[in-house]
Amino acid sequence: MTAPLRQNVSLGERSYDILIGDGLLAAAGSHIAPVLPQPRAVIVTDTTVADFHLATLERSLADAGIDHEALVLPPGEQTKDFAHLEKLIARLLELKIERSTTLIALGGGVIGDLTGFAAAIVLRGIGFVQIPTTLLAQVDSSVGGKTGINTAHGKNLVGSFHQPRLVLADTEVLSTLPRRQVLSGYAEVVKYGIIDRPEFFTWLESHGMAVIEGDPSARRHAVAESCAAKAAIVAEDEREQGRRALLNLGHTFGHALEAETGFGDELLHGEAVAIGMVMALDLSVRLSLCPVEDAARLRRHLAAVGLATGAGQVQGRVWNPRRLLDHMARDKKVSQGRTAFILARGIGQAFLSDKVDAAEVEALLTATLAA
Ligand code: NAD
Ligand code: GLY
Repeated sequence: MTAPLRQNVSLGERSYDILIGDGLLAAAGSHIAPVLPQPRAVIVTDTTVADFHLATLERSLADAGIDHEALVLPPGEQTKDFAHLEKLIARLLELKIERSTTLIALGGGVIGDLTGFAAAIVLRGIGFVQIPTTLLAQVDSSVGGKTGINTAHGKNLVGSFHQPRLVLADTEVLSTLPRRQVLSGYAEVVKYGIIDRPEFFTWLESHGMAVIEGDPSARRHAVAESCAAKAAIVAEDEREQGRRALLNLGHTFGHALEAETGFGDELLHGEAVAIGMVMALDLSVRLSLCPVEDAARLRRHLAAVGLATGAGQVQGRVWNPRRLLDHMARDKKVSQGRTAFILARGIGQAFLSDKVDAAEVEALLTATLAA
């Protein structure tokens, strides 16, 4: 086991560390103990993750003298709803948790978002620790304090900002993650290169396959660099008043594709984000803001690692540009009737614009979806 990399998220009294490395789950108890107000924690996880990794975490908490219980929920996006939140909170109250009890989210973004939101509201707010077990959760959802659930009106429409006390990103736990999930998370890694880390994008062009194949040092570097990128943006704009919106690169298009496919297995979040990032750069090219070569470079890299770069590659699906535009109009980033887009002047130069003409977006969608 190599010494973990450490990235601080600098938010005054709500600052916390992200530790990145292998073997962190087995040593979780000793890392977590210093941030616990009382030696008691409740682990929240899903059945898939529990089968692979719960026993290791429980052993390490026991070794560190931390009392613990585990609540195991069904896996999948459908768990991130009011019904499961209500059941989770009922179970926590039955366990007679106190305000100094800490929740530990052991899982992907679904478990992290749900557990974080439960921690934000139960007993008017208790502490929580993130142990992300998907690549997507390690590089994105476990960092930055966005928590929440989905509703019948759309994804992530109810939630709160509630920062964790600690994030333990054990890159070894990714060895049990299916390749499709690894690839989906990898799209969010690429996102940081496009936003403001051009050297990282160049590094990914030569090391991306190693990250996906599981090379330990490449994985550590990719997760650490992604967390550094996200931590810098969150420290500057915790509540998304401005710069944090850049983290939604590819998401306006991506969410529309996901909404159309029902947020299920047909198109995973990261897969939709990959296609959405290509669309965002193509739109930037169309608006004469971005060199065509930069959009081509993104497309080449995503294709090289095995991600789809166009909606036309989603098997058996015929898209309707108007329906996608309708989904975009309902996006939570719409302000005063205008959809905000993250555009780019090139790789590593993303910016936010609410001045994009809807006709340009429709023309792009019509051209892309017909291709
Ligand atoms: P997920 O949590 O559903 O995990 C994907 C699947 O992988 C699940 O079936 C899970 O059981 C399984 N799994 C998890 N870890 C595993 C492991 N180590 N080995 C084997 N299987 C494992 O999905 P996700 O992609 O991690 O997260 C998606 C969610 O994250 C969405 O709800 C999205 O809205 C949210 N999200 C939140 C933020 C944020 O800032 N809070 C950012 C991005 C995404
Ligand atoms: N995933 C977007 C954010 O954390 O702001």
